[in-house]
Amino acid sequence: MQRFLRNLPIRRKLVFITMLTSGIALVVACLALATYEQVTSRKRILQNISVLAEMAGANSAVGLKLNEPGWVEQALQSLSAQSSIVRACVYDRQRRPFARYQRAGVQGDFSSPPVLNNGPRLVVVGDQLEFFQEIKLAGERIGTVYLCADLSDTTARIWGYLKALSEHLGTEQARVLRELQELTKNIDHIKEIVAMQQSYAKVSGVVEFHSLPALVEDALRMHLTSLSHHDVHVIRNFDPVPDVLVDKHKILQILVNLISNAKYALSDSNAAERCLTLGVSMDPDNRVRISVADNGIGIASDNLTRIFNHGFTTKKDGHGFGLHSGAIAAREMGGALLVRSDGLGKGATFTLELPARLKDPPAGSLTDRR
Ligand SMILES: Nc1ncnc2c1ncn2[C@@H]1O[C@H](COP(=O)(O)OP(=O)(O)O)[C@@H](O)[C@H]1O
Ligand SMILES: [Mg+2]
Repeated sequence: MQRFLRNLPIRRKLVFITMLTSGIALVVACLALATYEQVTSRKRILQNISVLAEMAGANSAVGLKLNEPGWVEQALQSLSAQSSIVRACVYDRQRRPFARYQRAGVQGDFSSPPVLNNGPRLVVVGDQLEFFQEIKLAGERIGTVYLCADLSDTTARIWGYLKALSEHLGTEQARVLRELQELTKNIDHIKEIVAMQQSYAKVSGVVEFHSLPALVEDALRMHLTSLSHHDVHVIRNFDPVPDVLVDKHKILQILVNLISNAKYALSDSNAAERCLTLGVSMDPDNRVRISVADNGIGIASDNLTRIFNHGFTTKKDGHGFGLHSGAIAAREMGGALLVRSDGLGKGATFTLELPARLKDPPAGSLTDRR
């Protein structure tokens, strides 16, 4: 068992342990409930049956004493109010059956069992409980009453409980499993991000040809989970743009912050539909543009001029470093980072403009290429 567990991957181990513990909990809970229900319901029935026997005995005493079986049979008819009592019999002093009762609808004749005198007065036979009680008049034993109760209702109820409980625990277990799967998916996602960041860290400072839409997708992937948490609808407006010579580490650093800022602006907005629009295009003036637009909280016109200042932030936990360093990185690449917003509540658009250094510069104008 130990070796089996040791060889399992962590994900399987988690699933295995969860299944095992919840399975054990299910069995223990079922057993506990069944035992409790069995004990308490039998106790309750026993109490009821002894009271009923006492009453049936008291009601039959006079008829028995006067040797009137019809009276006693009539007295036993009152047991029909108790649906659990299937059969009853009153015996005379010599332990001979004197009067009988059988619940309506019960099949077959019933032969009165021999009176249990000195032995136990309570007998459980399968789903039935038999009870004998002496009938006394003025302290003298004049006969015996016998009652037979049906326990199948109780057993059916216990099974009903157990079924309902196991169904409930089953759905609960399925929910835990789903959460676990969600968790492992997130772990995979984190692993992917770390791997991607490491690969970018390695190539930092290296200028190579890259597809701009692919870089945008990479930056987006780093925020995908939180964007879906905030119900953000992502729109891609990617024009067909040839690969360009860029430092992907720098581009990614800028884009990751722009998307993070947009996400923040959207999470605080009460727009009916939260939209993040990502664009890639190339202008005839030989410049490529990557835009990140949102319909979030927008930017006050006073702040538009200060937004790239080092340390400017309106967030409680912000640093005001992202746009500042982004603008510097854009300038280092011969480009610019621009902002546009029509004011508070009107969303914002950030555009990263870069010179398009292509593999095969077009002979004519760039418009001809597109
Ligand atoms: N998309 C946006 N919508 C509204 N305000 C924004 C947006 N992007 C940036 N800002 C504003 O610019 C500030 C500076 O952003 P940034 O330099 O990335 O630093 P930080 O994110 O740490 O605050 C933000 O605090 C916010 O006030
Ligand atoms: Mg930021």
